[in-house]
Amino acid sequence: MIKNRFFNRNIVSIRDFDIDDFTYLFDITDKIQTLKSRERGEIAKGLILGYIFYEYSTRTRLSFESAMSSIGGRSLGISDVDSSSIMKGESYADTIKTISLYSDVILIRHPSDGSSRYACEISEKPVINGGSGSEEHPTQAMLDIYTIFKEKKRIDGLSIGIIGDLKYGRTVYSLIYALSNYKVEIHLVSPSILKVRSESIYDISNKVKMYHHIELSDDLLEKLDVIYVTRIQRERFPDLQEYKKIQGLYTIDENILKKSKPDVSILHPLPRVDEISPSIDNTVNALYFKQAAYGKELRAALLSALLHEEPF
Ligand code: CP
Repeated sequence: MIKNRFFNRNIVSIRDFDIDDFTYLFDITDKIQTLKSRERGEIAKGLILGYIFYEYSTRTRLSFESAMSSIGGRSLGISDVDSSSIMKGESYADTIKTISLYSDVILIRHPSDGSSRYACEISEKPVINGGSGSEEHPTQAMLDIYTIFKEKKRIDGLSIGIIGDLKYGRTVYSLIYALSNYKVEIHLVSPSILKVRSESIYDISNKVKMYHHIELSDDLLEKLDVIYVTRIQRERFPDLQEYKKIQGLYTIDENILKKSKPDVSILHPLPRVDEISPSIDNTVNALYFKQAAYGKELRAALLSALLHEEPF
């Protein structure tokens, strides 16, 4: 039995994990999908996932809830802060402490960078970062890499384009950090006002090949094995006029697919607004809903590994 690399760990930053951790997690994600539902339903029996979402979510919250239910556990939490005692002035620290008293693991989404790291100092139970400001969304990167690996059967040697809002998109940072463990080429495509924050990638700039582009040119499209598209994060723009200037700048549609490799994989953490045309949803290239489905399986494996020294 290989040592469980996730037992009782906080999942705050993807930077805390290495390639052996990813390999282990992908292995148990494959394995959990082969379990009979009765066996799978025993893993987290009697255990509780507690959560709090200070920002909107569909996939992260529901996939974690669905994952926990599929392994026999239960979830309880606050998805609408307005209905909680935070509205009476309860502090972040007291809220996290309280949720951790009622649960075995806690999931947090919060608009501030550092919010999950701080929660680890307060929580009695392991913390999972479900998205912290513009900083990170580590479990999204885990499922993104898992999706690429399942589809391409490798990560090393791939050319991966990351397109859209590279300044505010937290999934972008977790993905770049995770990819820096592999031998890949990363092509970062964004308007100049949404370029990746150079200070956030400074320490990995010698570890992985990264190229910056303003245009999604035909030359670049011919090269890419994966196009990872991100939404322009309207809610993080200080000035909405600036947002309007760049809204809809890169739209992935049939025209883009025609210029790309026939087997290019299109990924998106979702939600999308107008950056991927629904007209390509039924192509073999469109992997974003499959990616969301893998999210449940990977998170079920992750919860199992966090909660038990021997996950299953
Ligand atoms: N990918 C993702 O984090 O989606 P939600 O914002 O819907 O959770």
